[in-house]
Amino acid sequence: MRIAIIGFGVVGQGLVEILQDKRETLRQQHTLDVQIVAVCDTAKGSVYHPQGLDAALSLQAVQSTGSLDSYPDVAGLVRGLDSLSTIRDTEADVIVETTWTDLETGEPAITHIRTAFQAGKHVVTSNKGPVALAYKELKALADAKGLLWGIEGTVMSGTPALRLGTTALAGCTIRAVRGILNGTTNFILTRMEDGATYAEALAEAQRLGYAEADPTADVEGYDALGKLLILAAVVLGHPVSARQVSRQGITHLTPQDIQRAKAQGKRWKLIAELQCTDDGVQARVAPQLVELSHPLAGVSGATNAITYITDLLGEVTLIGPGAGRRETGFALLADLLDIHRAIQRR
Ligand SMILES: NC(=O)c1ccc[n+]([C@@H]2O[C@H](COP(=O)([O-])OP(=O)(O)OC[C@H]3O[C@@H](n4cnc5c(N)ncnc54)[C@H](OP(=O)(O)O)[C@@H]3O)[C@@H](O)[C@H]2O)c1
Repeated sequence: MRIAIIGFGVVGQGLVEILQDKRETLRQQHTLDVQIVAVCDTAKGSVYHPQGLDAALSLQAVQSTGSLDSYPDVAGLVRGLDSLSTIRDTEADVIVETTWTDLETGEPAITHIRTAFQAGKHVVTSNKGPVALAYKELKALADAKGLLWGIEGTVMSGTPALRLGTTALAGCTIRAVRGILNGTTNFILTRMEDGATYAEALAEAQRLGYAEADPTADVEGYDALGKLLILAAVVLGHPVSARQVSRQGITHLTPQDIQRAKAQGKRWKLIAELQCTDDGVQARVAPQLVELSHPLAGVSGATNAITYITDLLGEVTLIGPGAGRRETGFALLADLLDIHRAIQRR
């Protein structure tokens, strides 16, 4: 399998590290041999070799100098292709799209993925934007071309939240979905229950790398909202738009609110929720009081969780990491393995 990576940041590099570490296992246990033919990144530069790049050297270049320009010159190496040329004009079978998420426009990822499908290439991505905003269009294009689109990493990183809903629970009717889909806010609420103020907990989350310098997307619920849009479209087959989701973050919660809940045997959690109704789907992100006996109440720190409420199984809850270099790299690997198995079956 030949892959081209568009966006060589934390997750793109995490995938390459995993592919290196597991090279032999992937060959022996899964007959999967991945060759990286191109890596393209706006600031770090771009390298392409039709016979494949040296994965270790690409990591070494970026990690020691911050740029692919220090990748050694070898015969046949092409430098400087932009993302669209990399997608269209290289021999990759699969495009790995790991550029920034933009939940307002979905770009540049929507254009990258559309271009890949038009060029007859499969795609795996951890980028929420294109799935939240353009799932129907892009999935239809992939289907029309007989191509596969792996998106597991867009919700709860490598924890198989989407596979659980779409594959393992197929045959059940899913009546509702409730999740703790943002690790930063869950970490802040956990620390506030331990006695920290909101400002102290946020500063700690930023120090540990869970929260961005501008934490708005997390603490005001926009990140969780993006994941709800994905779950509605992908798992429930009922796309909703951001305007249809009622959204409230955690910034108004006080230490007194948290302690009062604790005294009542409850816990505040930022819950992202989809409820199937006769008219469609109701979606909201809001802090909710959760009974301590519920599995979601026990999910602490930066961990994520999702509960599917179904007709045949009742409630099924999955708990696991929601972010991280290798955790999200693994989501991409799981999608590559799925594509490999599907190609073998054809
Ligand atoms: N990190 C996580 O734990 C995690 C978890 C789940 C999902 N995700 C998603 O996975 C994706 C990657 O995340 P990340 O943490 O790896 O982000 P990141 O470290 O910021 O990497 C994104 C990379 O994409 C590059 N890029 C942006 N636009 C590009 C373009 N048009 N062409 C080529 N490269 C482009 C950036 O380039 P420069 O900065 O070099 O200019 C950057 O290196 C994001 O969509 C993110 O939301 C991340």
